[in-house]
Amino acid sequence: MRILAIETSCDESAVAIVELQKNKPKVIKNIVSSQIRDHQSFGGVIPNLASRLHTQNLPIVLEQGTEGGRIDYDAIAVTTGPGLIGSLLVGVATARTLAWLKNKPIFPINHLEGHIYSAWLNENQPELPSLILTVSGGHTELIYMSQHGKYLHIGRTRDDAAGEAFDKTARLLDLGYPGGPLVSELAKHGRRDAFTFPIGLPEKNSTEFSFSGIKAALYYQISKLEKPIQPHIKADIAASFEYTIAETLIKKLSIALSQHLKTRSVCFVGGVSANDYLRLRITDYIKNNHPAIPLYLAPKDYTTDNAAMIATAGCFHNLFGSPVSWYDIKADPNLELK
Ligand code: KG4
Ligand code: ZN
Repeated sequence: MRILAIETSCDESAVAIVELQKNKPKVIKNIVSSQIRDHQSFGGVIPNLASRLHTQNLPIVLEQGTEGGRIDYDAIAVTTGPGLIGSLLVGVATARTLAWLKNKPIFPINHLEGHIYSAWLNENQPELPSLILTVSGGHTELIYMSQHGKYLHIGRTRDDAAGEAFDKTARLLDLGYPGGPLVSELAKHGRRDAFTFPIGLPEKNSTEFSFSGIKAALYYQISKLEKPIQPHIKADIAASFEYTIAETLIKKLSIALSQHLKTRSVCFVGGVSANDYLRLRITDYIKNNHPAIPLYLAPKDYTTDNAAMIATAGCFHNLFGSPVSWYDIKADPNLELK
């Protein structure tokens, strides 16, 4: 089964073709056209501009992804939500039209589920039940996946996502957009213990997240500093911030693991999982505290938004679920993962 996937939930127009070979996904094509440069001067994604650029870029990406229509596929998968409604509509309308025109089955995919399945793009696949830590610009969630297609939400953020906190930190330090990679680069030169920032919802049994407190603490800390802020102080802030994010994720992961003793694997996925320091800290934590539980990090190429992860989710929907008629496919900006 070969699946063509379309992903346009935010500011990446992405198309991929993935084939399931002996239940293992193989990426045949993976094309991502990022709009980062178009939004950079605004310091964030401008929704109207994003959808306009998707209408221009998606046909080009589709042409590249299928090598001008020469690569065939058996079914289509498309991100139907959550995300920016204008952006989602471009991908959904395109996928519906293709499904109708080519008479192919179509699978609607939740963007979060796509991130989860990026862990299946490793050499070996996670065993279930798996505890999934999904950390991106829009989400920070712990999900217990007991079977393919069965998700239990263990904890999510009550306010901002961790990726938003990275982006906000970058803005406060005048680093640019998107903030994650810039903060991460700067943090390499700073001291992890230079500043103390709060861990959100530190209660003993809470697997929920909150990042509004650390954002506010950063704002106060930075507003107290003499301007312009010295480069080594910026690096200390970035390093201390990243340390607190690592501590937060590990603390919540450890609580979730103590509450879900049947867990057979842990996955760390989403745009923020591209962060080398966080990858290292989580790897060390699992190795030292749960050596019998294998950890699956999303491969670096599939951490931020892409369509290969959507196609992979589509492959497993085909194995364990059933397609939907193209006229029932709808974009939903607030789609819940059930
Ligand atoms: O998964 P993603 O591409 O989009 C959403 O679904 O939200 O995640 C984007 C987020 C942004 O907030 C970006 O700053 C963050 O992922 N990010 C990183 C890194 N690379 C991207 N955060 C920390 N360190 C990184 N290296
Ligand atoms: Zn995403």
